Amino acid sequence: MTDDAALTVTTGPPPAGVRSLWRLRGYLKRHVPALVIMLTTALAGVGLSIAIPLVTKAMIDGPIADRDLGPVLPLGLLALAFGVLEAFFIWCRRWVQSNAVLGVETDIRHDLYDHLQSLPMAFHGRWQSGQLLSRVTTDLSSIRRFSGFGMLFLLINITQLVVVTLVLLNMYWPLGLVVAASAVPIIYLSMSFEKRYVVVSRRVHDEHGDLATLAEEGAVGIRVIKSFGRSRFVGDQYEAAATKLYDTSMDKVRLSARFWTFLEVIPNLAVCLVLLLGALGVGRGDLSPGTLVAFIILMLSLVWPVASLGVILAMAQEAMTASARVLEIFDTKSEIISGHQVLEHPSGHLRLEHVDFNFPDDDAGEAPVLHDVNLEVDPGETLAIVGATGSGKTTLTALLPRLYDVTGGRVTIDGVDVRELDLVNLRSIVATAFEEPTLFSMSARENLALGRAEATDSEIEAAIDVAQADFVHDLPWGLDTRIGEQGMSLSGGQRQRLALARAVLARPKILILDDTLSALDVHTEKLVEAALRDVLENATGIVVAHRASTVMLADKVALLQDGTITHVGQHSDLLAEVPAYRELLAGDVTDSDTPAGVSA
Ligand SMILES: Nc1ncnc2c1ncn2[C@@H]1O[C@H](COP(=O)(O)OP(=O)(O)OP(=O)(O)O)[C@@H](O)[C@H]1O
Ligand SMILES: [Mg+2]
Repeated sequence: MTDDAALTVTTGPPPAGVRSLWRLRGYLKRHVPALVIMLTTALAGVGLSIAIPLVTKAMIDGPIADRDLGPVLPLGLLALAFGVLEAFFIWCRRWVQSNAVLGVETDIRHDLYDHLQSLPMAFHGRWQSGQLLSRVTTDLSSIRRFSGFGMLFLLINITQLVVVTLVLLNMYWPLGLVVAASAVPIIYLSMSFEKRYVVVSRRVHDEHGDLATLAEEGAVGIRVIKSFGRSRFVGDQYEAAATKLYDTSMDKVRLSARFWTFLEVIPNLAVCLVLLLGALGVGRGDLSPGTLVAFIILMLSLVWPVASLGVILAMAQEAMTASARVLEIFDTKSEIISGHQVLEHPSGHLRLEHVDFNFPDDDAGEAPVLHDVNLEVDPGETLAIVGATGSGKTTLTALLPRLYDVTGGRVTIDGVDVRELDLVNLRSIVATAFEEPTLFSMSARENLALGRAEATDSEIEAAIDVAQADFVHDLPWGLDTRIGEQGMSLSGGQRQRLALARAVLARPKILILDDTLSALDVHTEKLVEAALRDVLENATGIVVAHRASTVMLADKVALLQDGTITHVGQHSDLLAEVPAYRELLAGDVTDSDTPAGVSA
């Protein structure tokens, strides 16, 4: 996040209303010159729009009443000059405005994205991606619309209302009073409108987020949906959410429609009243015809500011809701904070000491996912982790690069607690090939170089060799082929191999393979393993294994049971001595693996 974002972050309940909008002011501060220009040109415009009716009044009460046409030309030219100047100011304001406004939106978007990236896995596990999506897009646009147009017009309109009313009172106070009095119901209505609108508006935004989540899941999960023939079910779900959003949006529209009608009616009623009383006043000689004309022109110039007040207040409300939703993200602090220590030449000596781990939202009563895990892996050594599905293997490996932090005990690399290490440094030391290989919609090359952008072509080739991923050369554009969002155009095994090549290419000191070879056929697996042996020679390896063949990569095996490591030893010893281990790998153990005397 950029440091001068001036986000005064508070803890406690989510922010709401004006306060939340106010907290985004840091972004406006960067555009102070533009704001000053916008405001001065806008106020000058208001001044000119008042000056023009005053010239008209001078014209009617002067040359026209006196039937002396001499001053008509200069007065006319003056009015024309005022008009041209006003147009120029409007143009200036528009020009500056667009620049500043888009700048504000881009700044917030940038910071929001950075912040999202810095938030821990636990946050992303809790939040639906659709909600994030709608906050990053729709909500930011609402804030932009208000901070760009709404806020300025709110200021201009209120200034115009106040100044013009004062001018009117000064012109002829009885009529001025009528105008001023009509403000009372308007203010009252606006306030009650605002209270109700904020509730509906928040509901609309949240439902937008829910709908985005459904749309996204529908697109990402299309294969599952189609193959189970659940298109109808998913469609119904989406339709229900869409209808709900429609209903809420209609509530919102009905509310604003009623409000706007009143806002239109009240000033027009006032105009009628003024015309009537004004005509009487002129008849009695209390005011000149020119004054009445100027009065009416000025008053009519108030109709739009008043009527648009509804739109602007709605916009303001919308922006407040949106900024509250955006701030909810900003207010979530990353619990995983980078340390300061940097290991220049790590050897990769890994230790887990009495490590406990619980997912943040788990009930306190539940058994912890991991407890009292003790492990030591020497530099260059490779450890296989074997455990039943759901026993916590993936969770354990996630603790090393601090995707999650331990809740007890500690993880050290070369004797340094990982929490004291600089995060960038730590994550360059540890690389993981995950069980679900995520590929991004970029070229194969970019996908591979994710862990090390500066990798040379020959290094990329070497990594591809290790992972037996040379199929990339057969893609239509070779390494430059763009791979689908989820690598849809690749097979599961191909994706796994790319993910493996990516992890190898990062040249980590600690390489984690989370069941990375599961989708490979036996032949390819053998080739990959042979190549991996060389890589693992120079790195500390953690290999999550479900198959005996994968276990053979390792120097020793750890058995994970009930959230803790119960045995560490050689594959053959565990196979001989530990029934639970034998059961896990039983179906897979070939005769050559089986020590004499042990039946698989
Ligand atoms: N984000 C999460 N929030 C809450 N609980 C989780 C989360 N991820 C995993 N768990 C739970 O933690 C336990 C361990 O999960 P983990 O993914 O580590 O298992 P695993 O040993 O890797 O299993 P597999 O062999 O199937 O990959 C499981 O009971 C799982 O339900
Ligand atoms: Mg797993």
